[in-house]
Amino acid sequence: SGHAIILAGGSGTRLWPVSRTLLPKQLMPLGGDKSLLQQTVLRALRVFAPKNVWVVTNEEHVFEVRAQLRALDQALTAQVLAEPVGRNTLPAVLLGLDRIVAADPAACVAVLPSDHMISADEGFDTDIRAGLAMAAKGYFVTFGVEAAKPETGYGYIRRGEPLAPGVFEVLRFAEKPDLETARAFVASGEYFWNSGMFLFCVAEFIEAVQRFQPALAVWWKNRAKTPLASAYASLPDISVDYGIAERLTRQAVVKASFGWDDLGNWEAIYRLDDKDECGNAVEGDVLALDCENNLLLSRGGKLAAVGLSDMIVVQTRDATLICPKDQVQRVKDVVGILKGQG
Ligand code: GDD
Ligand code: MG
Repeated sequence: SGHAIILAGGSGTRLWPVSRTLLPKQLMPLGGDKSLLQQTVLRALRVFAPKNVWVVTNEEHVFEVRAQLRALDQALTAQVLAEPVGRNTLPAVLLGLDRIVAADPAACVAVLPSDHMISADEGFDTDIRAGLAMAAKGYFVTFGVEAAKPETGYGYIRRGEPLAPGVFEVLRFAEKPDLETARAFVASGEYFWNSGMFLFCVAEFIEAVQRFQPALAVWWKNRAKTPLASAYASLPDISVDYGIAERLTRQAVVKASFGWDDLGNWEAIYRLDDKDECGNAVEGDVLALDCENNLLLSRGGKLAAVGLSDMIVVQTRDATLICPKDQVQRVKDVVGILKGQG
């Protein structure tokens, strides 16, 4: 039977100043009244039973995550697992697997990021079911989105021969290539972007951990006698992408039939928001004069903008971002500098 592990531990630095350590992207309401995490959980419940849906998050966010799940269904509050510290996605997945194998040692598992916008839920259901069928045949399954531009923040998947309708053999998985490589990938027309969701059956996944991540395998083997709080912090900090997907050969990619956006920066938020007749996406107490094609967002106090075009202005009670739309990638540098000062 199928299980889902929803990863909700990221800190979403590229949406500063709204997304902070205390309220990362997946927990803030975006594109409606529900948070991206809540939207992800509801989507998972279309395919998986509530008791098979797990949410893994950092200890500091457990309270907020539980509250958000309770608002959907009281029973879900029991499904939240806390990491003592963030050690990236591979240890987080193993934490979820620990619970899953206790109930179902032969489980197939979907790993879902909590901070993406997905449209066309029916397409999502169909694709997950196609993925489950491939996982049952021993494949490690990813979901590919047409690579539209040389974005360096994504994983790239080179597709080979078709294995089933809409499903391809994977010739190569390359996580976060440099710009030149990403350009070549896009130009070849043979690559998908990795949407960040994974699907596998437990036996194959643990075998891959044993082969490629021996330190994690040792912890996994001894976990019953090791207190989590002390052991977890010394686990390697590694993602599923670098730790497993880049190395594993038996892989299949399902061509995504859902709409996907990882909302990685403010420009993506602008793109998805409703615009006024001048192309401005406006939220909160905002006055705009002779402004066009801006994102103008206030979550605290009045924001007045005059004669601006193609800008991102985001105001919160204690911090403001002003940035040309084509430089939004640099917001993470701001966060880096501020953290260094803090
Ligand atoms: N519980 C937990 N603990 N969750 C985590 C942790 C952690 O330590 N670190 C990250 N996450 C969550 C994030 O909240 C997000 O939902 C998901 O795991 C993926 O982590 P990101 O940090 O956002 O990964 P990425 O965006 O750099 O790259 C991944 O996603 C891309 C698509 O958006 C990769 O899978 C790429 O290959 C992919 O293209
Ligand atoms: Mg991400």
